[in-house]
Amino acid sequence: MTATETRPDDTAATTRPVLSFDDVLLEFSGVTALNGVSFTVDPGELFAVIGPNGAGKTSIFNVLSGVYRPQRGSVRFGDEELIGRKPHAIARLGIARTFQNIELFSNLTVLDNLMLGRHHHNPYGVLAAFAWLGKARRNELANRKAVEEIVDFLELAQWRRMPVGLLPYGVQKRVELGRALAAEPKLLLLDEPVAGMNLEETEDMARFILDIRDELGLPMVMVEHDMGLVMDLADRIMVVDFGRPIRTGRPREVAADPDVVRAYLGEEHRIVP
Ligand SMILES: Nc1ncnc2c1ncn2[C@@H]1O[C@H](COP(=O)(O)OP(=O)(O)OP(=O)(O)O)[C@@H](O)[C@H]1O
Ligand SMILES: [Mg+2]
Repeated sequence: MTATETRPDDTAATTRPVLSFDDVLLEFSGVTALNGVSFTVDPGELFAVIGPNGAGKTSIFNVLSGVYRPQRGSVRFGDEELIGRKPHAIARLGIARTFQNIELFSNLTVLDNLMLGRHHHNPYGVLAAFAWLGKARRNELANRKAVEEIVDFLELAQWRRMPVGLLPYGVQKRVELGRALAAEPKLLLLDEPVAGMNLEETEDMARFILDIRDELGLPMVMVEHDMGLVMDLADRIMVVDFGRPIRTGRPREVAADPDVVRAYLGEEHRIVP
């Protein structure tokens, strides 16, 4: 750890991270997507990952959620090693994500999409539901109540019975966030939550992300291209370029780093070693 990564109040030394991503190598035939990527996320922390196109940001999420299996490294979530686990097993441990491209059922309503986010909370299958009708019904009611709370929290009430496909883009992104929250995760992964949004939609989303951190205390990893948003929201930032972390620290430290500035100036300015 460099001096700049030390928290000013020195709590990092005593706080156990929620997530430890350690020295991960991920290669596809001929392409190195991640090389020596390490970072930790503390309880309640909003940790951002930024970097140019193709830098490896989504690959970090795909490793975290079990879609890709890296050739080297370790990813620990609490006491659990995540590498080698299937996506559904990782989701059940309490990691939920939103996607860079919206992945919702566009012909289903907002409420139904949010209910699908709670499928880990449905211990009763169809047959069990016949045998345990009372319990299954209570479970269904509890799920509906949880979903209504998310509708309130994300201010989705006016659209709750509308098919998601008919809603403005910014609202669809919010529903996706709601679907992830419906799983009651212990860690939330946001892949470009404001991509393609107008200014108003971006400001709304920024407010909800801050509410999730400050009111729910939920730790988050956020991948984002919008440098301004990341600087405003994140507690710490990791900059990746060509699959390698080039700087991790507080927003102001990262913004002042010459290597980071260079990575953001584009190919023609890049100093090739
Ligand atoms: N399934 C795959 N097969 C082959 N190469 C892949 C695969 N997934 C990612 N890559 C490669 O790994 C590198 C990192 O991709 P990744 O999608 O993680 O980048 P990113 O930082 O999310 O980019 P963007 O900003 O465009 O979303 C790229 O070179 C990409 O082409
Ligand atoms: Mg990506």
